[in-house]
Amino acid sequence: MTTQRDRRPEALALDPGVLRDGEICEFQSDLAVIAQGGIVVQPWRDRYLSAEASELKVVAAGSEVEDESFEQVLVHLQKSRAATFLDLVHGWRILQPGGQLLFTGTNSLGVVSAVKRLAEQLDQKPIVVANRAKARVVRFKKQSGTGPTAEDTPPFETSIESIHGEHFDLSIETRPGVFSAKRLDAGSQALIQALARYAGHKPPKRVVDLGCGTGILGIAAATIWPDAEIRFVDGDHRAVTCTQSNIDRLGLSPRCTVNWWDAREPALDTRFDLALVNPPFHQRGMAVDFGPALALFASLRDWLRPGRRALIVANRNLPYEAPLAEIGELETLQSAGGYKLLSLKRSARSSRSRGRSSPGARSWGKSKAPTRSR
Ligand SMILES: C[S@@+](CC[C@H](N)C(=O)[O-])C[C@H]1O[C@@H](n2cnc3c(N)ncnc32)[C@H](O)[C@@H]1O
Repeated sequence: MTTQRDRRPEALALDPGVLRDGEICEFQSDLAVIAQGGIVVQPWRDRYLSAEASELKVVAAGSEVEDESFEQVLVHLQKSRAATFLDLVHGWRILQPGGQLLFTGTNSLGVVSAVKRLAEQLDQKPIVVANRAKARVVRFKKQSGTGPTAEDTPPFETSIESIHGEHFDLSIETRPGVFSAKRLDAGSQALIQALARYAGHKPPKRVVDLGCGTGILGIAAATIWPDAEIRFVDGDHRAVTCTQSNIDRLGLSPRCTVNWWDAREPALDTRFDLALVNPPFHQRGMAVDFGPALALFASLRDWLRPGRRALIVANRNLPYEAPLAEIGELETLQSAGGYKLLSLKRSARSSRSRGRSSPGARSWGKSKAPTRSR
């Protein structure tokens, strides 16, 4: 009998004849690991926590899995081609000689062209082992030839203006899968340019960068206000490692803390003077999902001190005004080039007291990812 879950494209690998007996290492989903055991590689904190809650063995990065430790690996195609091919590089390394590399994705995410590219890199013909629900699974065998190739994500350059009109040129490292991996996002740039002008007369002492990506917004704040402490949080493990690497390289570590934190978890701290937000609006495939953005907005009640501000940049057409107006006084500071820059002054109403801290959220650069065994 076909269950509803089996109809989902990501469950295609559970079709008869696709998986071999035995454990599997699965990137970006956990359905095959639930079926047969093994290790889930999951950089998204909400999914990582849910795999952990189901007592699956889960790690946040492929680099945490030992070389040649699996006979089969399953990689799910993501929206980011660079992130997908980095997973394939790790998947290949993890695979034992003769083992099977399964690669799956939907037509809408471009599985056909991704498979073609992988087949060229491996110099092998893919075997299509499942093809339905507008998705497919292909199989390759680990042979002694070359493996998949990771894409370069070069750093981008940006210039930040201080309150005194000084200019600071920064080079920001990016990583596969991290937002603005190719260039600085126009919205982030608009917020950075406005930062010194709009953040208020008094320099903020404590700034939080919510959904930090490469860390660019918080790094700009750290550059403009040399005495400010900055907290960076993001739900994507690749983003927190990228931010940590940028702040270490720029010598900002003593004033900066980076945490892997999902917007639906309680705020990790309170009483910040300024929050910087370029909200996510299309995570997990191509579908627009406002959930993470709305959760980030709701958390502002907890992060910010009453009367203090958040600067939010968003695509002009996104309907963020109503949920933000529930949190405080909202003002449109700028609207140009497809973006709007909003200022939100948190109202004096008490916070929702969702709890002071989340025991699971961890500080980056200070501890390693927990790995639980089944
Ligand atoms: C539009 S990007 C902005 C990145 C960075 N602030 C910038 O301006 O370049 C949104 C960020 O939110 C993060 N994000 C998405 N969903 C999240 C969630 N549920 N919890 C926390 N962060 C999330 C993404 O990983 C991404 O880095």
